[in-house]
Amino acid sequence: MNKGRIAVFLSGRGSNFTAIARASRNPDANFSVRLVICDRQDAPGLKKAANFGIPAYHINPRQFPDKTAYEAEICAYLQRENIELICLAGYMRLLGPVLLDKYPGRIMNIHPALLPSFPGLDAQEQALRYGVKISGCTVHFVDAGIDSGPVIAQKAVAVRAGDTQETLSRRILRQEHRLYPWAVRQFFAGRLQIQGRTVIIK
Ligand code: GRF
Repeated sequence: MNKGRIAVFLSGRGSNFTAIARASRNPDANFSVRLVICDRQDAPGLKKAANFGIPAYHINPRQFPDKTAYEAEICAYLQRENIELICLAGYMRLLGPVLLDKYPGRIMNIHPALLPSFPGLDAQEQALRYGVKISGCTVHFVDAGIDSGPVIAQKAVAVRAGDTQETLSRRILRQEHRLYPWAVRQFFAGRLQIQGRTVIIK
């Protein structure tokens, strides 16, 4: 089987990267993680990539005059590996037109809330502060906004009395680790079709 070729972008811990990389090791997997791009040298996710034997590159945005030049450099890595899908996994930067135009409908992100509620930073804390009874996670296609692209899949997680940001985040994260590899599988099975704001799962 020809496996779909993924790049994972991360800035931190890398647990979603690990979930995707693990799923890719399944003999039936229809995708394979070819490389990791990271904007922070101290990101623990870089070590995790090394443990999987997956090439990981720290590309420092400060070494480029602007986002266009930075993303052009990233694109060179992606093209060398014939990447078909980019998975943002805790990548703390908004994408610019260089990446968005080169990979239309081919960039996903995971967010720890049920979008469109609580986009941006500290989503779990936002949910707790608001007092919602149900939160969860969302995998979505990426556009130029903050967590605003078409929703692919969501998983609800009940908020419990006494939940802290830590306990709620932990339960949401467990679901993220299942949902993200599932969405990637659907993508390479050709089941995801974007129609306006709606992603149809065939
Ligand atoms: C996750 O909660 C993800 O939803 C959000 O950033 C966090 C990344 O965690 N976008 P990790 O680096 O994958 O462990």
